[in-house]
Amino acid sequence: MSATANAASESGSARPSPGPGSWIGSAGAGGLDLRSDVMTTPTPSMLAAIQACSLYDDVFREDATTADLERHCAALTGKEAGLFVLSGTMGNQVALRSLLTQPPHSVLCDHRSHIFNYEAGGVAAMTGALVKTVVPSNGMYLTLEDIRDKVVLDDDVHSCPTRVISLENTLDGMVMPLAEARRISAFAREHGIKMHCDGARLWEAAASGAGSLVDYAACFDTVSMCFSKGLGAPIGSIVVGGNEVIKHARWIRKSIGGGLRQAGVVTAAARIAVDETFGTGPNGEGGLLRTAHALAKEVAEMWTAAGGKLAYPVHTNMVWIDLDDARCSPERFEELGREHGIKLMGNRLVIHYQIYQNRTSLLPKLQSIFTTVFEDKKRAVEGSAGASQQRVGEASMYRTSQ
Ligand SMILES: Cc1ncc(COP(=O)(O)O)c(C=O)c1O
Repeated sequence: MSATANAASESGSARPSPGPGSWIGSAGAGGLDLRSDVMTTPTPSMLAAIQACSLYDDVFREDATTADLERHCAALTGKEAGLFVLSGTMGNQVALRSLLTQPPHSVLCDHRSHIFNYEAGGVAAMTGALVKTVVPSNGMYLTLEDIRDKVVLDDDVHSCPTRVISLENTLDGMVMPLAEARRISAFAREHGIKMHCDGARLWEAAASGAGSLVDYAACFDTVSMCFSKGLGAPIGSIVVGGNEVIKHARWIRKSIGGGLRQAGVVTAAARIAVDETFGTGPNGEGGLLRTAHALAKEVAEMWTAAGGKLAYPVHTNMVWIDLDDARCSPERFEELGREHGIKLMGNRLVIHYQIYQNRTSLLPKLQSIFTTVFEDKKRAVEGSAGASQQRVGEASMYRTSQ
């Protein structure tokens, strides 16, 4: 009997039968949704864990399920302590607010960073820090040389000293090599600069074989990691770090309304996400992420075989295709997706593990979409059509045509 049916029969109440949006894992709403790995949906084993979780107050620090998750993530990353937070944004914000204590202060990060572009200006509002962005000279990840060009070490009264370097890993699905993270970290420590990692998808970097969670986390004072993206939990992220900084982060979390009472109902599912999707060791041993990475490469090859170019290399679970080169607008691409029953957004295809579980149904649909794109292109080239549309201003990558 499924966990859902079990729950319904135990309570004796009539419940709606499972449909899209219920506890049916890859058969649910995220199964053919390639817009993002946030679309993964929770599984029956998560529901079973929620039914078995402790139900004590976590603001009072009495909830065993939550404390256990925090301890486990700290151990997986080699840190002293962990703090459950409601989202990746909350994780980055409480971590940065805890590292940044006294203005004038500034944060250095990649110009594509989530903390700079997609957190509603939270760093400025919560910390008063100046955020300075750096463009990676290699087009993929920041190097120490890029950082050296922009860091402010000066104590001249006009300057705003760099107090935190924040690195995102993976960024757009691409891995920052461990050796580079180590170089930047050594430089930062030499100059008394704190290091934060937006590791929403650090799980993916570790599973790709680039370095373990412990290896990467050692480069940082704080790391935030999401349970609700590629790992498939419904809610939550964790911040790990030393005892002192996590103690402070707990205060900040409380001050913004993130202290939870019976937190076990969300942390139980997060623990299953770590154990079953990421795996049991710091390299994702026994987990499900690697299969999705292999499928991402297969999808990329299918696109290039159809005549397409890639915008970025495929390191983990994201395939960035060059739609401009294919003379296909994002709107047309998304429309083709809808016609085939799959959800697409712009030129990024995210291959999460539930997509992998539906690969036999997905691959022929993608093949058909890609073929149509290049047939359209052929017609456009022959008719020398394809008037380019000019975009004015900056647009969020999350905005769709729907
Ligand atoms: C790299 C990165 N960091 C942080 C976040 C924020 O996570 P959340 O949406 O849970 O706030 C996201 C969300 O997609 C992300 O991609």
